[in-house]
Amino acid sequence: MATSASAGVTPGSAPGRERMDKHLVDEERVDEDRVAQFLERVITDGGAAVAGLCTSLGDRLGLYAAMAGAGPLTSARLASRTGLVERYVREWLAAQVAGEYVTYVPGTDTYELPDEHAVVLADPDSAHYAAGFFTMLQAVYATEDALMDAFRTGEGVGWQEHGPALFAGTAKFFRPGYAASLVPEWLTALDGVVAKLERGGRVADVGCGYGYSTMLMAEAFPASHFYGFDFHPPSIRAARGIAAERGLADRVRFDVATAQDFPGKGFDLITFFDCLHDTGDPGGALRCAEQALADGGTCMIVEPNGSADVQENATPVGRALTAASVAVCLPSALAQHGPQALGNHAGEEAMRTIAADAGLRRWRLAAESPVNRVYAVGR
Ligand SMILES: C[S@@+](CC[C@H](N)C(=O)[O-])C[C@H]1O[C@@H](n2cnc3c(N)ncnc32)[C@H](O)[C@@H]1O
Repeated sequence: MATSASAGVTPGSAPGRERMDKHLVDEERVDEDRVAQFLERVITDGGAAVAGLCTSLGDRLGLYAAMAGAGPLTSARLASRTGLVERYVREWLAAQVAGEYVTYVPGTDTYELPDEHAVVLADPDSAHYAAGFFTMLQAVYATEDALMDAFRTGEGVGWQEHGPALFAGTAKFFRPGYAASLVPEWLTALDGVVAKLERGGRVADVGCGYGYSTMLMAEAFPASHFYGFDFHPPSIRAARGIAAERGLADRVRFDVATAQDFPGKGFDLITFFDCLHDTGDPGGALRCAEQALADGGTCMIVEPNGSADVQENATPVGRALTAASVAVCLPSALAQHGPQALGNHAGEEAMRTIAADAGLRRWRLAAESPVNRVYAVGR
């Protein structure tokens, strides 16, 4: 096995090295049972961190999709269904059984993906599909060395500096939640917006990434026109391609623009999906939005459902959010050298104050999910 030095891993900080000759904690004084319990928790987390790679492989190689609804399968049958090598598939299945994602049927040497698990892992059209989360991990883990530098220098790691798995994974992870909630729940919770879009309105979707949010709205409101903006050219290229495939190119336009200077005026609705906190200048973005809104127009700000109180984030969602903030959101904002670097759990009051300073003083929590909070904002 590679040592940490041969693997290119930088050893710990200078203070850590100075103290290597003695224990940092007097082990005589610690509670052994609590140590054992916590060690088990950490080993569980370590196992989950490695197993995440297997989840991503299962998603990307179509293993979960091939098992969905198929009943018990041998490893050979699953290999032939997916065109993969049986020996690898068998090893992957062993890891799935160990993680209790897949059940093993003793005696028949077969494996089964329960329907309830297939909904989460195999069906991209399910509101519960969560495999996109694991696509992002490849990019997140690859950022470690850049983050080491960033922690020491205070510089950022820009959104565009990550690998493509982050952009595709983000789109894949957020899309099911938007498909389930955006039109039926979130837009209907905004006063009068649905009626305007049904008649024919103008919508800007700022920081749109791959543009699934833009396209879901465009599909629901064929009389309206939609403009997606993002400062990341590869994401805009991807969004244009998907819009063309979905036959939406006549109603949806995607352009490269920053949130702080996107073009156009007279928008009935301006949306920010999970992006405002990623910018270095959310106030500048909201000032631009305030100028671009039509009279009576609405901004919809969708932010992660995290809390400024760090103790309130000790939940499974809070843990994922706060860790993503360290890996992606905070460094992305810092890389833009703006006045703010909020991270993704600065909380409602921080964003509300920034909006009010930008002239958007009407503020209401319109909807909420375990992952997102949706604010209706206006002049
Ligand atoms: C977490 S992703 C969300 C993407 C998309 N809205 C979604 O919900 O799937 C954040 C997006 O914000 C974009 N972004 C970050 N800073 C920006 C800025 N200053 N101007 C425009 N877009 C920005 C990134 O390129 C990225 O697409």
